[in-house]
Amino acid sequence: MQRRQLLRQTALAVSAFSLSRELFAMTPAERRWVEGRGIPPADLIKLSSNENPHGPSPLARKAMADAVNISNRYQWDMNGVLRERIGALSGHSKDNVILGAGSSELLGLACTWAALRKGNVVASEPTFKLWMTASRRIGLQTKLVPLTATKHNDLQRMADTMDADTRMVYLCNPNNPTGTTATKTELEDFVRKVAKDRILLMDEAYTEYYDSPSVSHLVNEFPNLLIAKTFSKVFGMAGARVGYILAQPDTIKKLSECSAWANAGPSAVSMTGAMAALTDSDFVKLVKRENHKAKELFCQGLEKAGIPYIPSVTSFVYFDNQPYAKKIPELLATANIIGARAFEDKSTWLRLSVGTVPEMQKVVSLLQA
Ligand SMILES: Cc1ncc(COP(=O)(O)O)c(C=O)c1O
Repeated sequence: MQRRQLLRQTALAVSAFSLSRELFAMTPAERRWVEGRGIPPADLIKLSSNENPHGPSPLARKAMADAVNISNRYQWDMNGVLRERIGALSGHSKDNVILGAGSSELLGLACTWAALRKGNVVASEPTFKLWMTASRRIGLQTKLVPLTATKHNDLQRMADTMDADTRMVYLCNPNNPTGTTATKTELEDFVRKVAKDRILLMDEAYTEYYDSPSVSHLVNEFPNLLIAKTFSKVFGMAGARVGYILAQPDTIKKLSECSAWANAGPSAVSMTGAMAALTDSDFVKLVKRENHKAKELFCQGLEKAGIPYIPSVTSFVYFDNQPYAKKIPELLATANIIGARAFEDKSTWLRLSVGTVPEMQKVVSLLQA
């Protein structure tokens, strides 16, 4: 695709995104924050949920607009087609794939499956935790394992923490909120150690940004291995709610049986968008390139301001506010920038999502001022 055409498509995507901002781009807490200060929603720079500031892709937007016309029908056939295309990405079939309304729905389903026998789940602290409240309610205890000194998942300690009652281990790689990844060999060793006799739920929501190692090639070997992925990040479709789990066909069947309805998950419109997104490799390239530029710029800004940070292979950065004179969330809020927040108790470490290059330039100039 010509560069000019690509730029035009991106400009279209960005303008469509800013038009829609006022409709649904805020959580209720963010809306209260904005309204309390009289800030026009369109002036808000939201760097809180690792959303893609460039998407969805132009092809996905067009496909979703067209698909509105078939919303009167259930999406049975489409479900199979999307699963087939997703499976093919890693050499699997449609029977290796279950779709969800975002990968979060499926993290919940995996917990339900694990909780059929009461016990515990082992995970890092901090990690992506939104599924944990529900998992506790259905009877799973959580055993949390601190990160290493370099803020990596401590794979050895996680394995050592498993006991006879461990039903599931959750590993987010690259980890949210720290942006770190293990090596391919470390991950493969971990799978062999854990997935032998327990469910291993691998959350690979961010692997695309830097082609981080995946363990999807081990699915055929391990019936207990679940790989969760999402269209919410590099594909820019967080609000469309499309995610999936890759696993062996029998495992997929067991997971589906934990769901109330076999055709649950994303709508016809969202699935059509996801299919189009898979064909738009130029857009994914552009997202990665822009993310790398904006993240480099932000990290250089942190370095100049004397703020320690963890090198990230994702669309967010984890950094330590401690040596910096001001509270960074308050400083950013003076320019209507929200999202810098802590994930560890009594910690000065914060996560900020990477926005567009101009948004991160704004962040950096505030840090330097
Ligand atoms: C690691 C991780 N897993 C899963 C999700 C949820 O993604 P989805 O929008 O597909 O539910 C997120 C969202 O931020 C995430 O960071």
